[in-house]
Amino acid sequence: MEVPLSAPRLMGVPEPVTVRAPAKINLYLSIGERRPDGYHDLTTVFHAVSLYDEVTATPASSLSVAIEGEGEAELPADRGNLAARAAILLARRVEVAPAVRLDLTKRIPVAAGLAGGSADAAAALVACDALWGSGLGRGELTELAAELGSDVSFALAGGTALGTGRGERLTPVLASGGWHWVLGIADGGLSTPAVYAELDRLRADGKRAAPAPVGGPDGVMNALRRHDPAALGAALANDLEPAARSLRPGLARTLARGYELGALGGVVSGSGPTFAFLVRSRDSAVRLAAALAGAGVCRTVKAVHGPVSGARIRGPED
Ligand code: C5P
Repeated sequence: MEVPLSAPRLMGVPEPVTVRAPAKINLYLSIGERRPDGYHDLTTVFHAVSLYDEVTATPASSLSVAIEGEGEAELPADRGNLAARAAILLARRVEVAPAVRLDLTKRIPVAAGLAGGSADAAAALVACDALWGSGLGRGELTELAAELGSDVSFALAGGTALGTGRGERLTPVLASGGWHWVLGIADGGLSTPAVYAELDRLRADGKRAAPAPVGGPDGVMNALRRHDPAALGAALANDLEPAARSLRPGLARTLARGYELGALGGVVSGSGPTFAFLVRSRDSAVRLAAALAGAGVCRTVKAVHGPVSGARIRGPED
């Protein structure tokens, strides 16, 4: 008998499911040439930090999205939202109707280089998987994640990982102990495609010196393994940083202030404009966050730690 699409044939849970997923920073990011498909091959060290978006999936008669929090006015509250696209992709894969209400609680700033949209997509995948009892393993969810965007697989995995391909191929990285960071979040976002295009332009521009490519990831990997904060601070590197700074010259001031105020190192996360500043302890993070906020070089400042888990159903302790 054919199962009508409106009647889920899987054994899910009837109650709402809430999943939280973390922001990421890139401790290292080297970018290759533009590929024929428009993407760039890259090598990156992703690190999940304690700033979370939440997605609650509730059974409903049709698909809808509601957004509350950071950037709620800028994001599409419809099928164009990456969380909705995640629900639709999963529903197709397991042959159910995407009949779900998705409530997004956003704390990760939009277009900040922190992969907030990817976090929402990963959270929606995990929430709908539980709601519909899809029974897909992590491997299958990761494949769907990679279809949705370059950073969605990492939002699912969390921790610290080496990313290759366009960022979707992951290998866990051994990172001893916890790390403390201050995120300096600029006013207004940067479009990821625009920053990649600016890097291509800087590299193609014969008249100006192209930004020197960052070296290999070994400095970052060794410092993570040995838990050597000074070495990690010195090794942080991102090929997209000159492009982000070219589009947003004010970022130079943020970086300089971070160092003046005692950061061990600072790096633009992903395509920016957020800076991740490394410090030694939670207390130093709170102090640097207060001082950076007072310096007036960022819209907002957050003290976070990493690594943290990827998208997980929220437990009572969360
Ligand atoms: O995969 P995602 O949708 O996050 O990528 C957004 C945009 O960022 C792409 O359309 C592309 O312009 C750029 N990008 C890239 N190379 C990557 C990842 C992203 O050029 N590895």
